[in-house]
Amino acid sequence: PCRTFQAKVQSSGIPDYAFAFDIDGVLLRSSNPLPGAHEALTYLQRQRIPFILLTNGGGKSETERVAELSEKLNVELNVDMFVQSHTPFAEMHEYKDKTVLVVGGDYDKCQLVAKDHYGFQNVVTPGDIVCAHPDIWPFSKVFMDYYKSFAKPLPKPITPSNPSETLKIDAIFVYNDPRDWGLDSTIILDLLLSSQGRLGTLSPQNGNPALPNRGYQQDAQPPLYYSNPDLWWAASHPLPRLGQGGFRVAFAGLWDAVTGRAKLEYTMFGKPHQLTYEFAERRLRAHRKMLFGQRGLNDPLRRVYMVGDNPESDVRGANEYVSPFGSSWRSLLVKTGVYRGGTVPSCEPSVILEDVGEAVRWAVEDAG
Ligand code: G3P
Ligand code: MG
Repeated sequence: PCRTFQAKVQSSGIPDYAFAFDIDGVLLRSSNPLPGAHEALTYLQRQRIPFILLTNGGGKSETERVAELSEKLNVELNVDMFVQSHTPFAEMHEYKDKTVLVVGGDYDKCQLVAKDHYGFQNVVTPGDIVCAHPDIWPFSKVFMDYYKSFAKPLPKPITPSNPSETLKIDAIFVYNDPRDWGLDSTIILDLLLSSQGRLGTLSPQNGNPALPNRGYQQDAQPPLYYSNPDLWWAASHPLPRLGQGGFRVAFAGLWDAVTGRAKLEYTMFGKPHQLTYEFAERRLRAHRKMLFGQRGLNDPLRRVYMVGDNPESDVRGANEYVSPFGSSWRSLLVKTGVYRGGTVPSCEPSVILEDVGEAVRWAVEDAG
């Protein structure tokens, strides 16, 4: 898609710029490649201009997702140039020997990612819980065949009458878009109202109407981690669809109603957050070193072009990111995803372009 620009390179032959590409709405629409995506990536590979893929998507291992992307885009990709929403969870070693709840995604895929790929030893899903205790959410009967197809036995039973023995969850991770919002919300709510993450218990004060927040009392509840704040994302439907951020705000509404608007603490990963962009830049620099050896590390990387479709994650993230490595990031908003053009984006990008091909052309000229 790009006229024959000779990418600007330094004396060492290494370009001083690189790209970060969002996936949904930039390279793919659901599972279908967008026009120009293959050509744009293969052009950069021919020109030896480094790039990574930075997505709020997830739900399967990096290895599996990268193999799928390589096949769909007909471009050779590998995991060292890929960051998805829950990739940073792999570095949360403090929970590896604890018991964690993993929410979201299809079947037990996220459970396998957490256990087999990230090394968490005791991973429980809401599906495992509802199969062991169907009465925990009376309305899951319609989904029970689905859950039974992959549910695993719980590492410990749920015996609230014997709190010291009941299943204790030490942290809650939302890996990907929840499918059964009712069950997932119920389990998370039970845990945040519990006594120290012991499922089926209530913290001594919780539920006590005499307390100012109608009974919510912090009692060492398990921390809650979301992997992606996206309220909307670009799926195959012509209009944007609710993402993990939709679940988060729905749960926040439940929490307010149940606790009288007590403070709900959680940690958010994913674009647009600073830590996610820092994680992505570290991976980009490691990839550049893999491409060019030690020179790839020593030669400055001055600019990164972030190509995205969502003003609130891709544009805001790149605009607000402060690189600890000294690079400057520019936000290139395309019209093939959540943003469709014709309106003022909620976060102003460096430039608005039609699609990923035009974005690469524009950036190569800008860098030149
Ligand atoms: O679940 C995927 C969606 O939240 C957005 O993905 O690739 O546009 O960051 P992406
Ligand atoms: Mg996107």
